[in-house]
Amino acid sequence: MTASRRQLFVTTALPYANGRFHVGHIMEYIQADIWVRAQRMLGHTVDFVGADDAHGAPIMIAAEKAGVTPEQFVAAIAAGRQQYLDGFLIAFDNWHSTHSPENTEISQAIYRDLKAAGLIQARTIEQFYDPQKGMFLPDRYIKGTCPNCRAPDQYGDNCEACGAVYAPTELIEPYSALSGARPELRASEHFFFKLSDARCVAFLEQWTQEGRLQNDVANKVREWIAPGEDGRPKMGDWDISRDAPYFGIQIPDAPGKYFYVWLDAPIGYLASLKNLLTKRGQDYAAYMAQPGLEQYHFIGKDIITFHTLFWPAMLKFSGRKAPDNVFVHGFLTVNQGEKMSKSRGTGLDPLKYLELGMNPEWLRYYLAAKLSARNEDIDFNAEDFMLRVNADLIGKYVNIASRAAGFISKRFGGRLGEISPDGDALLTHLRDALPAVTELYAEREYGKAVREIMQLADRVNAYVDQNKPWELAKQTGMDARLHDVCTVCIEAFRILTIYLQPILPKLAGDVAAFLMTPPENFDAVTRPLGKGARIDVYKHLMQRVEAAQLDALFEPQVQVQQVESAIKDEANVGPAAAPGGEPLAPQITIDDFAKVDLRIARIVDCAAVVGSTKLLRLTLDAGETDAQGQPRLRNVFSGIASCYQPDQLKGKLTVLAANLAPRKMKFGISEGMVLAASHGDEKAHPGIYVLEPVIGAQPGMRVR
Ligand code: 2FM
Ligand code: ZN
Repeated sequence: MTASRRQLFVTTALPYANGRFHVGHIMEYIQADIWVRAQRMLGHTVDFVGADDAHGAPIMIAAEKAGVTPEQFVAAIAAGRQQYLDGFLIAFDNWHSTHSPENTEISQAIYRDLKAAGLIQARTIEQFYDPQKGMFLPDRYIKGTCPNCRAPDQYGDNCEACGAVYAPTELIEPYSALSGARPELRASEHFFFKLSDARCVAFLEQWTQEGRLQNDVANKVREWIAPGEDGRPKMGDWDISRDAPYFGIQIPDAPGKYFYVWLDAPIGYLASLKNLLTKRGQDYAAYMAQPGLEQYHFIGKDIITFHTLFWPAMLKFSGRKAPDNVFVHGFLTVNQGEKMSKSRGTGLDPLKYLELGMNPEWLRYYLAAKLSARNEDIDFNAEDFMLRVNADLIGKYVNIASRAAGFISKRFGGRLGEISPDGDALLTHLRDALPAVTELYAEREYGKAVREIMQLADRVNAYVDQNKPWELAKQTGMDARLHDVCTVCIEAFRILTIYLQPILPKLAGDVAAFLMTPPENFDAVTRPLGKGARIDVYKHLMQRVEAAQLDALFEPQVQVQQVESAIKDEANVGPAAAPGGEPLAPQITIDDFAKVDLRIARIVDCAAVVGSTKLLRLTLDAGETDAQGQPRLRNVFSGIASCYQPDQLKGKLTVLAANLAPRKMKFGISEGMVLAASHGDEKAHPGIYVLEPVIGAQPGMRVR
């Protein structure tokens, strides 16, 4: 249907590899995924990639605290990604990492090209250094007393008590948040990208102000480029290097110097693309050289400067093509202003949503209905969610099929019939909406697209209500009209499904199977199924949202089943009982039991232990965070290697005895014990069974 096939390269922002996805990530991925699917349905070719943003001091420090290498740490996080992407039907063509050979190669090449363009400058600067840790301290790891209000324990760049902004060197009694040591000022050579160079300023004035960016984004960015009182833009030169030790990419010809994480993070877009192309046997250089290639990035409003100043300038002045556009969205709030938020809690954990068996397409539909092309926050409201899904999506759209399909199967052998002029007029009206609907998708005005489609569904429902197929079915001599009306309904349902397909890809697949056609592009709306076409028996397409599901989703603490019966009453324990091959242990009190702190933990990684045939090394997330709010992972050795391959356990939930004293073992320290069942006589009854909670339990929950 389109005159020319475009080639698009699309990304979402790369999440830091130091935590699980939150619903804000999922919203961004769904927003981009809908756009990508719509572009494909318009006949364009799209490569859609993501990756983990793996580098930087916070990840290096978090890994050290977890007692693992940064590589192990980010690998454990990466192992948990796919369940979210599959779960919410987010069809990235590739998921990669900035800690990759492709990213090293492209980052170093871009740096060399910027240097050759005269835009890299070395300067000596003074920074706080932690003599005990042997490293320069990022601002957030320096604390001290606020120079303004004297509040103790404030961060190095601003005071949370009075809001003052200052340099770390102004703090009174500064100390390292890592070791507590008093930091020393030390000089070091850093590399700067000369963003204030006249060439960069001229380019960015043009790139950011020629109409591609959203208005509010362009205005915000203009302030950074406009000359200040001193005649220089606010945006100074950009410090792109960090000293060892640092988890990052080495700067060529500069031993001990690494790229600052934000230099190589966006280059990770290209690295993931290159990785994808290599897997497909395509040439990266040839791909990037395509004159018509378009490049788009979906990002949140907190990272605008990186994507509209630094990133386009890096690409442009290293001799590469700047992005075609950057699409900025606002934040997602949850149950804002809801009175019930105290009891329901405010967080929406996407994994819990999936584990509760909630339909991912409900969330896709709800978010689409609220999203626009504007950079504005949107709120997830539980009542509104239920209403829109049940009343609109199911009540107005899904029900069209259920109202007509039964008659087609039972009365007309599953075949469609003739359509008379009134039905044809309705279908023409539906088809005529095609340009408007596709335009709204292309402009990322999904809320408007959903409204348009639901208005069409209203028209179809009005037609059904006028013609009342259930009454036609009872009247004699009305068979032809019944066949006609039901055929119109099925054809209308097919058209609406194609319109909704970018948002509801799974449902569209199920509908295609029901209509016995392949899922198609937008232009299929103009190709009716036609008289005599056979359709399958209708199966229920979508359940309604239940209030109890939302209650469970927002329940601050789901009670894990109480474990108390076996220790309650001696009379229950027959003297001869040796269940599972061993007698029960002597009775304990509930207080004795409470001493063992059992927690739900996710096995984020599981690996064989070199030199041991018995042990597996588990990396566990028991919902813990450190003082900086970073996830704390535990290392636990478990004697289960005879019964499990590491891959069988990755991603699963289990139960951890979390307050056992750490145990030094030959292979490292074990920080707790995973619960598993086995028979008392292991030789006669081999088998070890790691405990797994029923769906709904979350890492960190206590097992009582
Ligand atoms: O803000 C963040 O979460 C960053 N990890 C985003 C990086 S986007 C891109 F540059 F990689
Ligand atoms: Zn203060």
